[in-house]
Amino acid sequence: MTAPKHFLDLHKLDAQTLHAILALGSDIKSGRKSVSLAGKTLALIFEKPSTRTRVSFEVGMMQLGGNVVVMDDNGSQLGRGETVADTARVLSRYVDAIMIRTDDPAKLDELARHATVPVINGLTDDSHPCQLMADVMTYEEHRGSIRGKKVAWVGDGNNMAASFVHAAGRFGFSLALATPEELALDGAVLRWAESEGVDVTVTRDADVACAGADLVVTDTWVSMGDKDSDRRHALLKPYQVDARRMTLANADAVFMHCLPAHRDEEVTADVIDGPQSVIWDEAENRLHAQKGILAWCMG
Ligand code: CP
Ligand code: NVA
Repeated sequence: MTAPKHFLDLHKLDAQTLHAILALGSDIKSGRKSVSLAGKTLALIFEKPSTRTRVSFEVGMMQLGGNVVVMDDNGSQLGRGETVADTARVLSRYVDAIMIRTDDPAKLDELARHATVPVINGLTDDSHPCQLMADVMTYEEHRGSIRGKKVAWVGDGNNMAASFVHAAGRFGFSLALATPEELALDGAVLRWAESEGVDVTVTRDADVACAGADLVVTDTWVSMGDKDSDRRHALLKPYQVDARRMTLANADAVFMHCLPAHRDEEVTADVIDGPQSVIWDEAENRLHAQKGILAWCMG
């Protein structure tokens, strides 16, 4: 039996595969290619809330002719302690792929180790690769190839920041990460970047990161599961993306946010709702980029 084509993290796939997945998603979006997943079923496991991930995977499967089964903690035996390994073995007998959103990256790995069908990472505390596929697609639709461009990440060194580092490596852009020291990105991700020669710089100064950027990105100050909201607000206040900061970026820079957003916290309303913001295209592209992922995994 051939190994399932898991979509676990961007750095676990090569650049050629990721470009091919994005091209497939774009071709399906434009109608240049048609893909059928008729007769295929995707299981969606949610151990954390979701709007975009849930709806875009459900709608994406429906539009490709397939089906979904949605499971959450409360309604399945996972919530009562059935092991991830046993769940993987059982689901593999029913469905053709499994997407999981979970707090613990170890659960994603365990699922992938024991499933005989492809497993897709729909966000863990460590990464959010599906979002990055949509983000790269969106940048390239608006401004052409992201290769060689400068991306500024401003705010928390969280799961999205980690996936931006992986994406910088695979899609060939440079990344300036501005985070407070207390909320710095996990050292293992930076060590990976160093070992791969990825162009990542770390600064505590958001203005330095934004200077000359082609894309400015931020995310919520309090991610799902974070318990220290007050502390995070205090630490991240100097990292708000506002109109002045956007003027430091290149004149044709775009602004992105994976959403959900908190206006006038991580980003001011005039920026997120302003002319440089491409957040609605970004949200839409979850659907299109994930069709590429689904077709690649199950095709
Ligand atoms: N961006 C994103 O993953 O949104 P949801 O949490 O709504 O799925
Ligand atoms: N960093 C955020 C992303 C939400 C899509 C979180 O993990 O809550």
